Amino acid sequence: MSDKILIIGACGQIGSELTLGLRETYGSANVIASDIREGMPELMDSGPFEFIDATNKNQIEDAIRKHNIKIVYLMAAMLSGAAEINPEKAWNLNMTSLFHVLNLGKDNIVEKIFWPSSIAVFGNSTPKTNTEQQTITEPSTVYGISKLSGERWCDYYKTNFNVDIRSVRYPGIISWKTMPGGGTTDYAVEIYHKAILEQEYECFLSGNSRLPMMFMDDAIKATIDLMQTDNRNHYIAYNIGAIDFTPSEIASVIKKHIPTFKISYAPDFRQKIADSWPHSIDDSQARKDWGWRHTYDIEKMTLKMLSKLKEKYSQTKL
Ligand code: SER
Repeated sequence: MSDKILIIGACGQIGSELTLGLRETYGSANVIASDIREGMPELMDSGPFEFIDATNKNQIEDAIRKHNIKIVYLMAAMLSGAAEINPEKAWNLNMTSLFHVLNLGKDNIVEKIFWPSSIAVFGNSTPKTNTEQQTITEPSTVYGISKLSGERWCDYYKTNFNVDIRSVRYPGIISWKTMPGGGTTDYAVEIYHKAILEQEYECFLSGNSRLPMMFMDDAIKATIDLMQTDNRNHYIAYNIGAIDFTPSEIASVIKKHIPTFKISYAPDFRQKIADSWPHSIDDSQARKDWGWRHTYDIEKMTLKMLSKLKEKYSQTKL
């Protein structure tokens, strides 16, 4: 029988599809989803669910005891744009939840933990192109500060208390099942919805803002593969790369499929966040240590995004 898994923040953009991926891999009964709110029907109907506030240690512990949980994925977080508006709330959510889970590892209540880091750990002083695994990390955003501090705390718990904690630095994640919320890379999801619904999109970043991105299926594969590897990874949070593009490049790819599509630009406060992040990521360490490979390029991703969203919107109209 496989070890029981708890996903905290299971109804968010990554949590939703991670829950489905884990249920497919380990069996629905072994994968308990949790969040402060209900998620999409596919998630709620496919296995067990608990209401958990990620900042409430008692709620987490109760679920762990009730289901005999051995593995935790902590996916609850406030993303970069929202965190600039609510700095203290973001720090509280992102760090308190992490401490709760790390302490469960330290007390040997859970055996293995996944916690996502981000390209936001990098900042203005980081080399922008093919940003290396180990380089300057001086984040200038609230979100980035919480992710870098989180990485350091994970390393501390791993070194001093032998906690098996694993992490990747996700780039912008593009998906069609659940909308992201509060992120700077979210434009690359919104653009597909608007392309289908309105054939036009006003982007909150400038046309030449290059950022590292990844299709959701690859992100889920990376997460599950890293958790399955026997290699007791020596980096706390691995760089994982896939594709990189600018808003004007992604618009040109969409135009090949929807020739009437038009993009305009009205950069807002998120431009400064995007400007502080890398353009592309060197992920050779992840490729070497646990065989990371991405499978979606921008063309393949666009085809899938457009066809899945068309299908989804035609069903809602019925
Ligand atoms: N997608 C995230 C954000 O934009 C980056 O990790 O906040």
